[in-house]
Amino acid sequence: MTAMERRYEEPSAQAGRVQELEQIEIELLLSGVHRLYGYDFRNYALPSLKRRIWHHVHAENVRSISALQEKVLHDRGCFERFVYSLSIPVTEMFRDPGMFSAFREKVIPLLRTCPRIRIWHAGCSTGEEVYSIAILLHEEGLYDRAQLYATDMNARSLQQAKEGVYELGKMRQYTRNYMEAGGTRLFSEYYTAKYNSVVLQPYLRKNIIFAEHNLATDTSFNEFNVIFCRNVMIYFNEELRDHAHGLFYESLSQSGVLVLGSKESMQFTRHSNSYEPMDTVEKIYRKM
Ligand SMILES: C[S@@+](CC[C@H](N)C(=O)[O-])C[C@H]1O[C@@H](n2cnc3c(N)ncnc32)[C@H](O)[C@@H]1O
Repeated sequence: MTAMERRYEEPSAQAGRVQELEQIEIELLLSGVHRLYGYDFRNYALPSLKRRIWHHVHAENVRSISALQEKVLHDRGCFERFVYSLSIPVTEMFRDPGMFSAFREKVIPLLRTCPRIRIWHAGCSTGEEVYSIAILLHEEGLYDRAQLYATDMNARSLQQAKEGVYELGKMRQYTRNYMEAGGTRLFSEYYTAKYNSVVLQPYLRKNIIFAEHNLATDTSFNEFNVIFCRNVMIYFNEELRDHAHGLFYESLSQSGVLVLGSKESMQFTRHSNSYEPMDTVEKIYRKM
């Protein structure tokens, strides 16, 4: 296209070209990250991915996605910040309390029949979800025979998860969630306050293994009675979601339980016919 032709281009054609350029830059960035660091974001859902990438372009104070690509590929620190910013580590203790009361009512009776209980929290972020289940199992007298695996692709979040240290200011909300989830004790029994932080009781951590695991690139590593993967696959496109569901199906024992996030569902996934719902509102499914 000549300079003259470009000047008289229709605005809609110009917008199309800008979009195409953005698409090319994103593909090059993600392909470079995959080849150099092994992290595969190529099958993340495009709208939120784009938003996060632009957010990071501004955070790194560069002018374009191509400039971000150069920085991410040449500077490991910038790459780590990039992973952190794509990972959206938002979480809470007893998040969506209704799921925890449904779990207590419908899944705990099944777990009582198992001599050993193995649970996988895929995409555990900073650990609030796995500690909530540790509390619930402890209250039900099942924690001592349980082994919990908490994994995430984000090393920085996992480090915080291992430490089990959270902001004191969040305890009011977490206490409310705990009570709505059917908790009957004093939530403050589970932590010790220290300045502006709280430290969770060490006994809650004793049966939890924290490890890096990437749902896009790593394989199944054990067999589980329950898998939690909540608010992770909403960021994936259909292909990656199907891939993760394949991994979960393979990793669940017979009649194992899969728990999804409140906005997620088994519908339209490759494995939709492999599960029966135990609670459609709280997104608890049982492998058939
Ligand atoms: C919104 S948090 C969900 C935390 C918790 N499950 C909950 O529902 O509160 C999403 C987590 O998924 C993790 N994640 C995103 N893509 C992942 C992948 N490919 N493999 C493993 N974890 C991933 C992120 O690092 C982030 O910690």
